[in-house]
Amino acid sequence: MKLAISGKGGTGKTTIAAGLAIIFSNKGNRVILIDADPDSNLQTTLGYQGTITPLVEFKSLIRERTETDRTGGIVFKLNPKVDDIPERFFARFSDRILLGILGTVRGGGLGCACPENAFLKALLRHLILGRNDVVILDMEAGVEHLGRGTTQGIDWLLIVSEPGIKSIETTVRIHKLGKELGIKKIGVICNKIRSISEENYLKQNLAGFEIIGFIPYCEEVQSAELTGEKFWEKPSQIMESLNTALSRLMEEK
Ligand SMILES: Nc1ncnc2c1ncn2[C@@H]1O[C@H](COP(=O)(O)OP(=O)(O)OP(=O)(O)O)[C@@H](O)[C@H]1O
Ligand SMILES: [Mg+2]
Repeated sequence: MKLAISGKGGTGKTTIAAGLAIIFSNKGNRVILIDADPDSNLQTTLGYQGTITPLVEFKSLIRERTETDRTGGIVFKLNPKVDDIPERFFARFSDRILLGILGTVRGGGLGCACPENAFLKALLRHLILGRNDVVILDMEAGVEHLGRGTTQGIDWLLIVSEPGIKSIETTVRIHKLGKELGIKKIGVICNKIRSISEENYLKQNLAGFEIIGFIPYCEEVQSAELTGEKFWEKPSQIMESLNTALSRLMEEK
């Protein structure tokens, strides 16, 4: 199962990526969890204390793998070797979860034709097309990381939405982008629902979209941020509803 999670800033992408990773791993799956958001905070959400170096900062590794030095940087390999990267350079969050941070490509971002970008794209391609593990990508509000060659390997693009017109606008925009890229299944996860009327608001405004789940607003998630507790370690409404959403994803895969 390969999931890409996107949506407007602050809607709960990282919280949901973390929650789904925990549920998959509790079911016995090996999970590769990728922070692909330049403003990354997946590590903090997971409360992982170790150091994780973002991949773009492994300059000499990237130069070596893309063979940049050999050509003086004028040309570089677009398909560098990356299959050993997760095991060697990702953090082991738990027995079954590897956690990687992509980092920010300086300059032209992910559109740029630079060795760092070629390396990250090759890595994403490898994770999505070449691995049997569950892969979960926590992305920014867009799908720019996913090149055309990679999108056919994504089982689900999940767009996280919350009650409010701005989040809905972003959801519509990302949905359109996803369709243009040819992503087969695009679902919406409605998060931070406080009442039936909020749920109905999203149902009305997202009519025609495939809604995968409604996740209630949970005080546990908020208080966990303040106390450093892990919201997934105790039964909670968020984990329960994410579990239901995940069953839905598996059914329709
Ligand atoms: N279901 C929920 N109930 C209560 N709080 C939530 C819920 N989901 C997310 N939050 C809170 O909302 C805030 C934003 O969540 P999160 O960081 O997961 O969003 P994000 O979309 O990844 O944000 P960013 O765009 O900054 O990466 C956090 O404080 C998080 O604890
Ligand atoms: Mg986030």
